[in-house]
Amino acid sequence: MASSLHPVLLVSVSWISLLALLISPAQAATCTSQTFKNNKLYAHCSDLPFLSSYLHWTYNASNSSLSVAFVAKPAKSDGWVAWAINPTATKMAGAQTLLAYKTENGAPAVNTLNISSYSSIVPGKLSFDVWDVSAEFSNDTFTIFATVKVPKDAASVNQVWQVGSAVNKTSGFPEKHDVAPPNLKSFDTLPLGANSTTGTPAGTNTTTNSTGGGGSGALRIGSGGNMVLFSVSLLVLGALIAL
Ligand SMILES: *[C@@H]1O[C@H](CO)[C@@H](O)[C@H](O)[C@H]1NC(C)=O
Ligand SMILES: *[C@@H]1O[C@H](CO)[C@@H](O)[C@H](O)[C@H]1NC(C)=O
Ligand SMILES: *[C@@H]1O[C@H](CO)[C@@H](O)[C@H](O)[C@H]1NC(C)=O
Ligand SMILES: *[C@@H]1O[C@H](CO)[C@@H](O)[C@H](O)[C@H]1NC(C)=O
Ligand SMILES: *[C@@H]1O[C@H](CO)[C@@H](O)[C@H](O)[C@H]1NC(C)=O
Ligand SMILES: *[C@@H]1O[C@H](CO)[C@@H](O)[C@H](O)[C@H]1NC(C)=O
Ligand SMILES: *[C@@H]1O[C@H](CO)[C@@H](O)[C@H](O)[C@H]1NC(C)=O
Ligand SMILES: *[C@@H]1O[C@H](CO)[C@@H](O)[C@H](O)[C@H]1NC(C)=O
Repeated sequence: MASSLHPVLLVSVSWISLLALLISPAQAATCTSQTFKNNKLYAHCSDLPFLSSYLHWTYNASNSSLSVAFVAKPAKSDGWVAWAINPTATKMAGAQTLLAYKTENGAPAVNTLNISSYSSIVPGKLSFDVWDVSAEFSNDTFTIFATVKVPKDAASVNQVWQVGSAVNKTSGFPEKHDVAPPNLKSFDTLPLGANSTTGTPAGTNTTTNSTGGGGSGALRIGSGGNMVLFSVSLLVLGALIAL
């Protein structure tokens, strides 16, 4: 019975809720403040858990397409950054890769690499369609823009990302990346937002910009959003009961 709840309890619940509301913004992801020169907006973004990298994405279920902006700093200023989907495994072997680097004249370019094994890195077509590919370089940071075809009704894809320090500026062929722990852990699952358990389809108009709904990168942001919702519910409940 609501009326039997002690007033002090109600007050403290409200204060805890308010506190949670005030604290929540501190958990906000860095990616939510990143904007793009072309003013492109994405439905979701995630601070990836390793290599100070960020992914912005919009999944369009009607075309099974995934538009992304991958933001990362190369290991050295003349290095490379890469983002990949691995349709067959979780790590580098099998990764269908978009790699950004600077050409001889300093202009950023994107190379597609079919990495079928650790010893077979072949520039050329990927195993799925890729379009609207471009790259930007500013503030020592690359952004790779691309749209890729994903399997119909896929709930998620395996993503892999990497940064390296040197590249052949003519061919765009990368030199090996470091094998420090962050370089070996930079892969996870990217939830596409379709049939998500939170009931929020990708691309819908929600109050937060950053609900991911699963995967290690997005989970942190998602739970932050849920925390706010939960707190708002408590606040509303507290207010109703207090009246
Ligand atoms: C999704 O793709 C369809 C084509 O299949 C297109 O008509 C629609 O505009 C796209 N939606 C968005 C938000 O880009
Ligand atoms: C839908 O996907 C195809 C590739 O499969 C692509 O050529 C086309 O541009 C896409 N349409 C939209 C609206 O993105
Ligand atoms: C990628 O490379 C593997 C191994 O050489 C090959 O079997 C596969 O057909 C290639 N994929 C594409 C899309 O060319
Ligand atoms: C440039 O990058 C640094 C960190 O690498 C960041 O603190 C700063 O805000 C960035 N500046 C702009 C204009 O994005
Ligand atoms: C997502 O929902 C659609 C339509 O309800 C269904 O056809 C599809 O199998 C579902 N996909 C997954 C991964 O559950
Ligand atoms: C860089 O790539 C170009 C074109 O494939 C090749 O001719 C050149 O030998 C390569 N340079 C080095 C240092 O490997
Ligand atoms: C989001 O919702 C607001 C208010 O409900 C509306 O004005 C706006 O056009 C919506 N944006 C999109 C992208 O649907
Ligand atoms: C989402 O982010 C964009 C750009 O970062 C911003 O313009 C927009 O107001 C945000 N929408 C909401 C609902 O916060």
